[in-house]
Amino acid sequence: MTKATRNRRANQRGQKADAQNTDGQERAIARPLEVSMLGGWTERRMHRHRASLDALPWGTLEPERHPRAHVDHARAMWTNGIFTEYASAAAFSQLVTALVESGAPIDLTAACADIVVDEMTHVELVSRVVLELGGAVPYEMDLDRITQLPDPGATPLMRAAELAITTSCVGESLSVPALRSSRALVGGGLLHGVLDRLVRDEGPHAQLGIQFLAWAGDRLTRGDRERLAAIALDAVAVYAPLWQTSEPADAPALGATPRDDYRALMTAAVRDKIDARLVRHGIVMDRAKLAALVE
Ligand SMILES: [Fe+2]
Ligand SMILES: [Fe+2]
Repeated sequence: MTKATRNRRANQRGQKADAQNTDGQERAIARPLEVSMLGGWTERRMHRHRASLDALPWGTLEPERHPRAHVDHARAMWTNGIFTEYASAAAFSQLVTALVESGAPIDLTAACADIVVDEMTHVELVSRVVLELGGAVPYEMDLDRITQLPDPGATPLMRAAELAITTSCVGESLSVPALRSSRALVGGGLLHGVLDRLVRDEGPHAQLGIQFLAWAGDRLTRGDRERLAAIALDAVAVYAPLWQTSEPADAPALGATPRDDYRALMTAAVRDKIDARLVRHGIVMDRAKLAALVE
């Protein structure tokens, strides 16, 4: 059986499992979540320069050793992870284009392009974790709407700045501490190996936006920086419900951080990793509105 077939079947199995959870009640099955690998040279090229994913202890997760509710929570969380990794790949792809159009430094642009491959590698990793947990939960995943829509009238530099801030400076800066926390909770084994890989990759992803701002420097006017501060605040506000209204998580051994710890981690990241770094580059979010998001 090819890996592609295996992945598709995992998804079908996940849907079936969820259908069984409803005790015979009919429920709408969301658009199928389907991921696949072509295999062959494209797979070899994707994995080139990256430590072999196959060296991780696949097949050892043993979800039956965990309470069913914990596994269900973890399946939902990791299934959502597939989408967020795809979203990161799309955003960094857009950023590559904007960097090229901005005449950004070659190595900065190449690093961004390389991050796209990291993110697709993460899609594969997270999908394989979902497979081990019993398959994906039904999930509405409209990849045709995954692309961000930066201001179409903006210059390439401002489009790049908007994408760098929303994706790298905000999104990735929040994912690093969340992944670190999950890595500490799972102890060891397969999930630790996967999360360790994600943590090591996401740190540089969060740095790319800062590297961009350091390069953009004087090219950004005072008005540009004010506009970017508003964009950054909007991006933080999009993530805020994650720590303001999240359900109590109850599957630490499968990577779910308890709610209060998660809230503390995320609000600290907004202050120390997002706001402090942006301020150093002259991008100052509205203090009162920011405080309301992290209080
Ligand atoms: Fe990622
Ligand atoms: Fe990332």
